Amino acid sequence: MNEQELKQKIADGYILESPAEMTPGYRKALITQLTVQGDTELISAPAYWMAAQDAPSTNTQVSAVAIIQDELAHANIAYRILEDLGLSREHLVYERAPADFKHPYGFDQPLESWVELVVANGFFDRAGFTLLGDVFENTSYGPLKRALVKVDLEENFHLRHGENWMKRLVKLGGEVREKLQRAVDWMFPMTIEWFGLPDDLKRHSDQLEYRLKGLTNDQLRQKWMSATVPLCESLGLKVPAHWDDTQKVYVLDYPFPCRYDAQAKHWLFNEGQISWDEVFKRWKARGPMNEFYVESVRRSHGPMKKMLEVAA
Ligand SMILES: [Fe+2]
Ligand SMILES: [Fe+2]
Repeated sequence: MNEQELKQKIADGYILESPAEMTPGYRKALITQLTVQGDTELISAPAYWMAAQDAPSTNTQVSAVAIIQDELAHANIAYRILEDLGLSREHLVYERAPADFKHPYGFDQPLESWVELVVANGFFDRAGFTLLGDVFENTSYGPLKRALVKVDLEENFHLRHGENWMKRLVKLGGEVREKLQRAVDWMFPMTIEWFGLPDDLKRHSDQLEYRLKGLTNDQLRQKWMSATVPLCESLGLKVPAHWDDTQKVYVLDYPFPCRYDAQAKHWLFNEGQISWDEVFKRWKARGPMNEFYVESVRRSHGPMKKMLEVAA
């Protein structure tokens, strides 16, 4: 079957069940999607772990660790399906350069407090839920669709954890409230950028044509904002976006895309709009925690491997 025939078959509702049915184009698009998915899940674990050190109590730290455990299982699901496609999990997790990982730039940032953890749960896990929920509903690859049942339920739990904590913390007022606002200030535009190129600049998408997803970047961004903007407004937290009743869409109140000062955790709105080429350059150079996070998930690999060899 050639690419065009497969695309037609998929458009008619066909679900693929094995790599044997794939064309090279389909396989490549699925590998790209799953690599981003697996890497995002994997790297969210050390990012959340860093923030969990600041948990207010033992039981709250345990709830953060439960989320981290879920994320590692989600990563394993994506890498496991990549193995079916002929890739090596060993290579993907342990042998790539940290800069070659494909998770979003947002997960290259330090999460330094419980406040930042819960906003990350509210915003980043909501983004994961939005993206994976769309894949779950629309994907033409059967094994992935079935695997995402579990992931979808758990991501929903993660984002509720974030939103519920945001509601609790905001009531404390004062310094905690200010800290929450500062977290929102850097994480809101970070998540907006995560959804990628606007539709008018993205001319075609293999993932849409092979129905590996159903919604465009702008549609996904709108969907995320339709949950996040009302949440923040109801909590009295300022976000740089609003609902436009004439256009019936959420509109950003800042130049997009724009520069980010990673050390200061601050978006440089006043320097105006920049090109997507500049954004891609920043993404490619990765953010401040990239190497630390990647190394921290594989630190024990060498010694552990030796121990197992000796035991055998
Ligand atoms: Fe996850
Ligand atoms: Fe999650």
